[in-house]
Amino acid sequence: MADDFSVKLTEKYYTPDPSYRQNSWIGDYQEAYDEFRKDPEAFWDRVARELHWFSPYAKVREWKYPYARWFVDGKTNITFNCLDRHVQNGLRNKVALIWKGEDDTERIYTYRQLLREVMRVANGLKTLGVEKGDRVCIYMPMVPEQIISMLACARIGAVHSVVFGGFGAAALNSRITGAEAKVVITADVTFRRGKSIPLKHIIEEAIINAPSVEHVVVLRREKTQPVEIHKEMEIDFYDLVHAAGTECEPEVMDAEDPLFILYTSGSTGTPKGIVHTCGGYMVGTYYTTKTVFDIKDNDVYWCTADPGWITGHSYVVYGPLSLGATIVITESPPDYPDPGAYWRMVEEFGVTILYTAPTAIRMFMKLGEQWPDKSNLSSLRILGSVGEPLNPEAFEWYYRVIGKNRCPVVDTWWQTETGMHMVTTMIGERMYPGFAGKSIPGVVADVVDKNGTPVAPGTGGFLAIRDPWPSMMRTVYKDDERYRKYWNTIPNWYAVGDLAVKNKEGYIMVLGRSDDLIVVAGHNIGTAEVESALVSHKAVAEAAVIGKPDEVKGNIIKAFVILRVGHTASDKLKNELLYHVRITLGPIAMPAEIDFVATLPKTRSGKIMRRVLKAKEMGMDPGDISTLDD
Ligand code: WTA
Repeated sequence: MADDFSVKLTEKYYTPDPSYRQNSWIGDYQEAYDEFRKDPEAFWDRVARELHWFSPYAKVREWKYPYARWFVDGKTNITFNCLDRHVQNGLRNKVALIWKGEDDTERIYTYRQLLREVMRVANGLKTLGVEKGDRVCIYMPMVPEQIISMLACARIGAVHSVVFGGFGAAALNSRITGAEAKVVITADVTFRRGKSIPLKHIIEEAIINAPSVEHVVVLRREKTQPVEIHKEMEIDFYDLVHAAGTECEPEVMDAEDPLFILYTSGSTGTPKGIVHTCGGYMVGTYYTTKTVFDIKDNDVYWCTADPGWITGHSYVVYGPLSLGATIVITESPPDYPDPGAYWRMVEEFGVTILYTAPTAIRMFMKLGEQWPDKSNLSSLRILGSVGEPLNPEAFEWYYRVIGKNRCPVVDTWWQTETGMHMVTTMIGERMYPGFAGKSIPGVVADVVDKNGTPVAPGTGGFLAIRDPWPSMMRTVYKDDERYRKYWNTIPNWYAVGDLAVKNKEGYIMVLGRSDDLIVVAGHNIGTAEVESALVSHKAVAEAAVIGKPDEVKGNIIKAFVILRVGHTASDKLKNELLYHVRITLGPIAMPAEIDFVATLPKTRSGKIMRRVLKAKEMGMDPGDISTLDD
């Protein structure tokens, strides 16, 4: 862990129009926060009562460090709160979901239609023998069926494990076998920049050594040349759905039953299966979607994340639907077919709340203001950011060019593990560019030293969270030791693994990871996973991977590779290694640069000192190298 360091901070801020605070759900931030601190259980109880419980909880929370249970003995089903509740309360014909494809196709579901589809898929899964507690892997492109499949699992109490469609066969295999998935739901192809990219062969490869898998459900999108279905194990998505009934009562779930597992990169080679539960996760995502995005009945809400990541789980699917919001999604990348595509969508659908990532904002900055300027963006009310630090330049651009100096920017800090937003600047409050903000009401976050003592403003330290919150992960699937580590690293705090600094007003600026994770374009990549992918190539003896700052992506991956005897460095070999990582882990984990080297800096105990590689790469002082082996 790093020692204390000081950071020079700017004092510039923006004040939003007072109407934002007057009309918001949260009202005055400080008042809401004080109310939470006075009685945290009463605070969360009030939130939870806004949702439907089949039978009430006996206790709001039970905290036996480091294990928490929330809404103890309460029974509910998140899909009842996301769907049935709205259908019964007058929103049945409200648009729940608008999907736009690359070729301009639109698909629209009202709440009634979405509920019907979810029940049909749920019944389909039942006919395949899926029962409460079984794991189902969803490996799909960003289509309505991906969201419907997630909800269908939740409907019957099956635990979904969504794997981002850009992962390769080895990454997919480790996630399927890790969760021991019984069924995999997938698609034949994903469409990307006008091309169709086959997915099904990746599944076929990924399940070769995955004995738990009994069935593969395939959504066939290619109509002209439909992919072949191998009847022994595979079934067409709509054949399954059409054969199933349209009524499916929601399974009665205990608040602490698992809702899903989502794998995230760890600092060792194997990804961590983060486990979230039905009750606490539901309450946490409902509350934050309501207060941070201030969702009202007329809002049109667009989060650009793929449901394959936590942002999609919490803020495309569960949070917004539990609020009865209208959500917009698209399968297109931000700059396809041209850099004006996203802004045309904002105008076309009248988007009022936009939630995207710094890497996209920086890409748009580079492409120029002429693109957003072609569209009328006056419907926008609130802008959000997530995934990595929103640097001051990107904040200013987002605020001025997209928000027209009018829309509050909520830079939301949180993690797969936290399930919900933890630190941000609530709308209505002063915004300091570069600073995510303060703990939201409901959360106690701070910047502390390694002993857990809060540090002074301007001094760097570790971002940490005190006390449990409803949507915290409950464990790491089949690896509880790894769960406990989060709570045992800094005494009395949950250590998040990020470095941060506070200003005098208590606003937190997140500086980046303090461990071996690299955040590339908002996606966490473990150095260890990339290194082992490289080493699995026959020409590679050893590899070390670092993150290198990049103007658009935040970081890129740079790899240092030692070749085995008998292999020579060449551009051809470089490309071969890149391809190898691509098919093993997927395009998101591909290094941008590879250097062939003769040695790697190591400690005397043989650990690679990535810090030294990074300092050298960036022309910086490597710091303490007393443990470096000569
Ligand atoms: C980083 C994504 C700065 C951070 C929701 C965190 C951020 C990791 C921000 C979690 C932000 C996320 N400012 N850094 N607003 N949001 N991060 O699990 O390093 O994919 O620990 O969850 O992303 O990434 P994850």
